[in-house]
Amino acid sequence: MANHKARLAVFCSGAGSNFQSLYFAIAERDLPAEIVLCLSNRSECGATAFAEQHGMETLHLSEKQYDTHEEFSAAMLDALRKRKVEYILLAGYLRKVPEKVIEDYSLKMLNIHPALLPKFGGPGMYGINVHKAVIEAGERESGATVHYVDAEYDKGPVLLQRRVPVEPGDTPESLAARVLECEHRLYPDALEKLLDEDGA
Ligand code: GRF
Repeated sequence: MANHKARLAVFCSGAGSNFQSLYFAIAERDLPAEIVLCLSNRSECGATAFAEQHGMETLHLSEKQYDTHEEFSAAMLDALRKRKVEYILLAGYLRKVPEKVIEDYSLKMLNIHPALLPKFGGPGMYGINVHKAVIEAGERESGATVHYVDAEYDKGPVLLQRRVPVEPGDTPESLAARVLECEHRLYPDALEKLLDEDGA
């Protein structure tokens, strides 16, 4: 559709550096997309602060606000539908997305993971734990993966992956920093690919 900008929701829980890189890349690359919502399970975090400073809508939505999982799931879907959200990008979102939302956004939802999936994914594999595991396993390379989200944690089809070396003497922290830098280019590249493939 000419001039249509794909409506994106970005889900975050933390610092939001991937969220920022997506926001700036959309402007710099003139991508046919706009972030219409920054959703967080936390009332405040780096990502929501950035979104507010840049005039984007934020929404605090946590399962704790609801009596049942069904109500929480319905509220999330409702919030997405009201804003006509077409794509969801998980960027450091540390909660499981309700199944109904995953179904509704099948092949329209991406996640970024700081390792070369299918290795070093799954339950417990988040944050510094991932980089610790990579170093303990003696891997010579790590990297980042952007994948579609489906019902199985960290198992959806890979959209884009990029490698970084594990250097001798790396600590989990130094490796995390190298991978994060890679993520900041990879996620915008993956978004561009998704929009291209969808003809958005
Ligand atoms: C990133 O390493 C991402 O791969 C993972 O969580 C981290 C989020 O960092 N899912 P930030 O909030 O984008 O800075």
